[in-house]
Amino acid sequence: MSETFTLIIFGITSNLAQKYIIQALYDMEEKGVLPEKMTVVGNARRELTDVEFKDFIRDALNKENRHHKHEFKKEVIEKLLKRMHYVAGHLDNPDYYTKLRNFLDKIAKSSKGKDDRIYYLATYPDLYQSIFENLKTQGLTDETHGFVRLMIEKPLGHDFMSAKHINDLMAKYFKQSQIYRMDHYLGKETLQNILTFRFGNGLFEPLINKDYVDHIQITASEDFGIGARGGFYDAVGALRDVGQNHQMQMLAFATMDEPRAFTNEAVTEERIKILKALKPDSKDVVFGQYEGYKKEDNVTPDSKTDTFYAFKGELDNARFKGVPVYVRAGKQLAQTVTEISIVFKIPENRLFKNLDKGKEPNVLIYRLQPNEGIVVRFLTKKPSTMELEENFLQYCYKIETEHSHYIPDPYERLILDAIKGDQTFFADAEEIETAWKFVDTLIEAKDNPVEYRKGSWGPKEADELIKKDGREWLMPSDAFCRI
Ligand code: BG6
Repeated sequence: MSETFTLIIFGITSNLAQKYIIQALYDMEEKGVLPEKMTVVGNARRELTDVEFKDFIRDALNKENRHHKHEFKKEVIEKLLKRMHYVAGHLDNPDYYTKLRNFLDKIAKSSKGKDDRIYYLATYPDLYQSIFENLKTQGLTDETHGFVRLMIEKPLGHDFMSAKHINDLMAKYFKQSQIYRMDHYLGKETLQNILTFRFGNGLFEPLINKDYVDHIQITASEDFGIGARGGFYDAVGALRDVGQNHQMQMLAFATMDEPRAFTNEAVTEERIKILKALKPDSKDVVFGQYEGYKKEDNVTPDSKTDTFYAFKGELDNARFKGVPVYVRAGKQLAQTVTEISIVFKIPENRLFKNLDKGKEPNVLIYRLQPNEGIVVRFLTKKPSTMELEENFLQYCYKIETEHSHYIPDPYERLILDAIKGDQTFFADAEEIETAWKFVDTLIEAKDNPVEYRKGSWGPKEADELIKKDGREWLMPSDAFCRI
């Protein structure tokens, strides 16, 4: 590990930093996996004294509705705070970078060895150009004394052209090997486990193709609204917020061909192939908006922003040609659940087809949350009868180690990967642009969103989208992985 390592977080007071990054840093501190000589430098506009800044971090970790539900230990917080510093300033003002350089030089001088840095952009995209230019002018992108890396958040851009613009802009200042494009779903344990499940075993993979699979469903539903994020969300909407990125990755992991090796290049190549093969059907897309959305804080009163979408697509490749993929996501829905269901065909000659439930399909479910796990739904006999009932074969997470009683948070995993220099679970430029091309086609077909009831499964049009193919959305089961 390097002599000194500094993580510079531009926008440390942002919702993103408070909800995800600071909490992940705590987890890493607790587990003892942070580089020994690591410093965190936070930035935001408002002036804060050292005491005020540390109070802000303590508050972020102790918030009522914080993201991580586990206990935060006072001594771990204090240890983390020793690493943390604050350099206030406007990111579009060159003077800020002089201040930052002086601060970073001071840290570097205290050590004789390497001086590695990661800049984390938890801030507004319209500041990117100014950040890159000023970092360069101040010599802060120089790699003579250690690596310089950039972490950048999704959504990258708001359509293909703007994403390309940001990618091209970054390429002017950084090499691709320095750019870590975050999609926190790529850091989720269960998502990564899909690759192990599929390519580390021989049992299921031979069945994951058009001969055996009837269709695929991908659901990401949340039983809460946009909360305090109106300013961000109203300009983005559901499809751009989670469809262009998280759900595309879910599809890619569940359907990609076996990578030739477990390397960044090979895994990324297969993900891109899936995104390129995905064909939308612009007739089969529904946008919804939950009732009362227009009255949320920082939302325009006549907003046409989607808080729900459902669409049907198809993978135009040899493995899945003709297998429909149904995708839906939204806020204020009946339940919070994120899962991928591979629904198998029912063999023509199934022996018990005429019994009640005899026509229920087998389903392979990758459950990303809650109750993470991998589940197979199948039929068994009810004891003492010849009736059928549904049961589950399941792998559920049960992590209890000295330092962890919870599944590692994606941010924790991805920040460590960026420190190690492993880009396997980060999106690359072409991947993001390809996903945008697909999403742009759906957005072109966008009409006014249909209003839906809070606590429902979205507008009835979304049910009709799948029903007209003789299928239905699967109800997420809460029977499995409750341990
Ligand atoms: C974020 C979106 O990227 O992902 C949010 O901006 C969404 O709107 C969140 O709620 C979902 O992430 P997770 O890990 O809670 O499923």
